[in-house]
Amino acid sequence: MDNKRIHVFDTTLRDGEQSPGASLTPKEKCEIARQLERLNVDVIEAGFPASSGGEIEAIQGVSRGVRKPVICGLARAIRSDIDAARKALRYAKRRRIHVFLATSQIHREYKLRKGKGEVLALAERHIKYAKKFFDDIQFSPEDASRTEPDFLLEMVETAIAAGATTINIPDTVGYAIPQEFGRLIRLLIERIPVLGKDVTLAVHCHNDLGLATANSLEAVRSGANQVECTINGIGERAGNASLEEIVMAIDTRQDLFGACTNVKLNEIVKASRLVSMMTGIPVQPNKAIVGRNAFSHEAGIHQDGVLKKRQTYEIIDPKCIGLSGSQLVLGKHSGRHAFKERLKKLGYDLKPADMEKTFKRFKVLADQKKEVYDEDIEALLEDELSKVPETWILDYLAVNIATDRAPEATVRLRKKGKKYEAIAKGDGPVDACYKAIEKITKMKVDLRDYSLKAVSRGEDALGEVGVKVLGAGREVTGRAANTDIIQASVNAYMQAINKLCSKSVKRRSFSELRLV
Ligand code: KIV
Ligand code: ZN
Repeated sequence: MDNKRIHVFDTTLRDGEQSPGASLTPKEKCEIARQLERLNVDVIEAGFPASSGGEIEAIQGVSRGVRKPVICGLARAIRSDIDAARKALRYAKRRRIHVFLATSQIHREYKLRKGKGEVLALAERHIKYAKKFFDDIQFSPEDASRTEPDFLLEMVETAIAAGATTINIPDTVGYAIPQEFGRLIRLLIERIPVLGKDVTLAVHCHNDLGLATANSLEAVRSGANQVECTINGIGERAGNASLEEIVMAIDTRQDLFGACTNVKLNEIVKASRLVSMMTGIPVQPNKAIVGRNAFSHEAGIHQDGVLKKRQTYEIIDPKCIGLSGSQLVLGKHSGRHAFKERLKKLGYDLKPADMEKTFKRFKVLADQKKEVYDEDIEALLEDELSKVPETWILDYLAVNIATDRAPEATVRLRKKGKKYEAIAKGDGPVDACYKAIEKITKMKVDLRDYSLKAVSRGEDALGEVGVKVLGAGREVTGRAANTDIIQASVNAYMQAINKLCSKSVKRRSFSELRLV
């Protein structure tokens, strides 16, 4: 049997834009709408035309720039709102008006101050008015999930009789629980059998209890054939149901839903990033489907499993939503398997002994850093490869820095088992360390060049120090990386000093280790 087709109504540009601080310019709306078209959503709710002249222009821009999906505008059951929607949607190739009116007791009494009869009449009158200009009319009884079921049924029947072609059931305040919401959808279909057939039955869920996706999915299982959602789940308060979660759940659990959408899955990540960038609302790292960590594995056991067979710890292939693949994050929980794989990916094939040594250094680094990036590993390797015989070994280092006096370094070095210590002041902490080393080694060296750069990202990034020194007529370099830049500076300097001490320094080349 064919899968049942679920229509995707995207309201990122209307309910999503109602997220605090998410206002979009007409140009930004247009750009997002074009991505929604590439994503192949069925309907784009482009805004609320009555809210401003600028909003009307923005919706006109979207209508001109996007031709495939239906473009929709929201309107209260007020004539001027419907007229504003007519104006805003004038250029749309396919257009829909979305009329809404609150139906729950609390909204009727406190917000509208109207009785049931008046509310029914208002809806009927305005849907009929809209029908003069629009064939495609969606009606939403706002706060439907908190409306008395009998009155909701009466309202839905009235709306259909007046000309509504889609009935949308909003869980406006995110109050519903999946079982109860599903029951409501089944009741509506049982009493009004055209719903979900000749008249589209939509649901619009908010996330106040974190149940927006669950409620939408239960509604689909119960017979709804349109879901309303936003990219990244942005929207009023805790947001709307998230498009990517609903679409991927329907796709991943076809066995359960027997349904499909027309969404192009490989455009999901692009849509998520664009919306986040344009609205300035970051996506939480652990957000399902589009969060930075959604396909990242750090635990050694998981990494090992994913490397053996991706599906052991992943239910979705990240490539199908537009990512390049899963990510094995190297950190303190990572094991040898993942580390070795990463080295291979970076182009290195180490001999077992080298591999063991580098892995140990990686573990030490991972204890200092939250995440070990590829650049960190390259720096570790470079460090390892640049090893020279150690005439002088750093035994102890302490630096005293205060605002009212010059920095002072205490350095202890070992040579042939004997320890030597010196204290020196300098222009800066690094200079103080270098002077103390000079005092001990009694080597006359001239620091020709010093460079410091961050080799990876984050505040705990590795600092890479490069030095060039001249001594005994020879110019040598030293390089070291460490999360502590003073330590890296000293290590780089010690490497250069040791090069000067050793007669022939044979540096293994990177290419020796690169995979061909
Ligand atoms: O949440 C809601 O009830 C709405 C309506 C306008 C559909 O956004
Ligand atoms: Zn809403």
